[in-house]
Amino acid sequence: MKLQFKTIFLSIFVGVLPVAVSASPEPLVFSHVVSPDTPKGKMATMFKTLVERTLGDKYTIVIRPNAEMMDDDDAIDAVARGKIHFAVPSVSKFQGYTDKLKIYDLPFLFPDHEAIERFQQGSAGQSLLTSMDAKGIRGIGYLYNGMKQLTANKPFHEPADLAGLSFRIMDSDVLEQQFRTIDAIPLPMAFADVYQGLATGLIQGQENTWSNIYSQKFYEHQPYIMESNHGVLDYMVITNARFWGNLSEEDLRHFEYALQMALEYGNSVSKAKAMNDRDEIRRMRDIELFKPTPSELRVWQDAMKPVWEAYEDEIGKDLIDAALAAGQ
Ligand code: LMR
Repeated sequence: MKLQFKTIFLSIFVGVLPVAVSASPEPLVFSHVVSPDTPKGKMATMFKTLVERTLGDKYTIVIRPNAEMMDDDDAIDAVARGKIHFAVPSVSKFQGYTDKLKIYDLPFLFPDHEAIERFQQGSAGQSLLTSMDAKGIRGIGYLYNGMKQLTANKPFHEPADLAGLSFRIMDSDVLEQQFRTIDAIPLPMAFADVYQGLATGLIQGQENTWSNIYSQKFYEHQPYIMESNHGVLDYMVITNARFWGNLSEEDLRHFEYALQMALEYGNSVSKAKAMNDRDEIRRMRDIELFKPTPSELRVWQDAMKPVWEAYEDEIGKDLIDAALAAGQ
């Protein structure tokens, strides 16, 4: 860790010479679960660089990638308690804190990144950032990763082809319901365990973005991929609400600027990487990619749609309507 010392001279008028006291910057831990070479990893590095450029005498951002310190569920808890300062979990992982974020897991709700962005910039999306303040968590921005694709270890074209297969899911009851609706078996599992789960056959399928399928090498055990774009993997950058509220006006301005720049960068990396990683996977000889026609896709949409109704009360119809409006 780079140590910078700020020297403070105290004049003590009790018959001794001035004393030099050294203070090192406060380490702020930033935990995430993916590799540094992903949109989230790159965003975190940019945030660190920019914060330390202006506030380096006060703070140093200590990035802990690849779940090397903790998985996302523990990171959310640690942020809430003020044990660590930043995390960027998927919005699917907050069900212990709010029902509202379940909106992001409804299958086929958001058609693309632009729709998600419009929703998040609007008042409904912005209000979700402060929806966990009472639990100690402040959302300070959104980062996009991409649309999720379905993968399996056997060929599939229709929902019925997945019946009886175990699918890894993030710990979200909406995602659980999504797979139960098509008679597959959902299995909540930490991201760090997915590769092993696929390699050993404990799970036979999973859903994730092109970036995660590629960077985690899930394709090595999932040769059948459907370009389903059926869901979204989006992240919320979170910090401890009290820490954020106690920052001086000037420090807050620097943090907010660094975050805004880092998110703009991370979001542009996401878009480029989603296409690049999809093309890398497409070129692999052992991979069979299925791109459904609009009518084939409609079969999947119809099969998964009942999930919306099941969660309408918890999420709120107003929020679902705002998301639908953003998609038009
Ligand atoms: C997952 O658990 O699949 C994702 O949240 C991983 C990530 O952070 O991209």
